[in-house]
Amino acid sequence: MHDATRPAPWTKSASTGGKPALYRDLAEELDALLTGENDATANAANAAAAIYHTLPRLNWAGFYFVRDETLLLGPFQGRPACVRIAIGSGVCGTAARERRSILVPDVETFPGHIACDTASRSELVVPLIGASGLIGVLDLDSPDLARFDAEDQAGCEALAAIVVRHLARSVLSWAGRDLAVSIQATKEEPCSSIIAPTR
Ligand code: SME
Repeated sequence: MHDATRPAPWTKSASTGGKPALYRDLAEELDALLTGENDATANAANAAAAIYHTLPRLNWAGFYFVRDETLLLGPFQGRPACVRIAIGSGVCGTAARERRSILVPDVETFPGHIACDTASRSELVVPLIGASGLIGVLDLDSPDLARFDAEDQAGCEALAAIVVRHLARSVLSWAGRDLAVSIQATKEEPCSSIIAPTR
């Protein structure tokens, strides 16, 4: 977990204005950070890092994206996490199914909570909704009970809207899909036509 007492070097706010100011500054910085890059993976990765290193008391921050009617792990900061979550399962799947933010003050009281990191005590999940519907979720975990409140929810919903706006103008080709296509292309291309025989 990063040092929450140390302000992120790239944010103007050192939390002097409280949560609204912190989220306002982060939203501005995030927008600037994602502007000018069209790659969805790069933008989601930088968004996860910016959020994780700016908001205090987090042990995980990142994305799950809808793939093949399930939630697939996207860019994140924190310990390795569950790779696939069914829509409707856990906090992430519930937020995805209900298309609304879910604030969980104590993960042990949430039926079906999926414990990726046993250090997590509270959680906030915000759905990412684009013009064509659900894209995925933004998931934040904290090692502290009741870490997130209504101000965090409003702030994170604003951050999610910025991420969605930037992802929407990205070419919707993810590393996985591109990789699958290139692997397929390689398979179909006989090696002999790529590597000239030596004899
Ligand atoms: N706790 C989540 C799973 C994802 S991890 O926290 C990164 C859930 O219940 O959906």
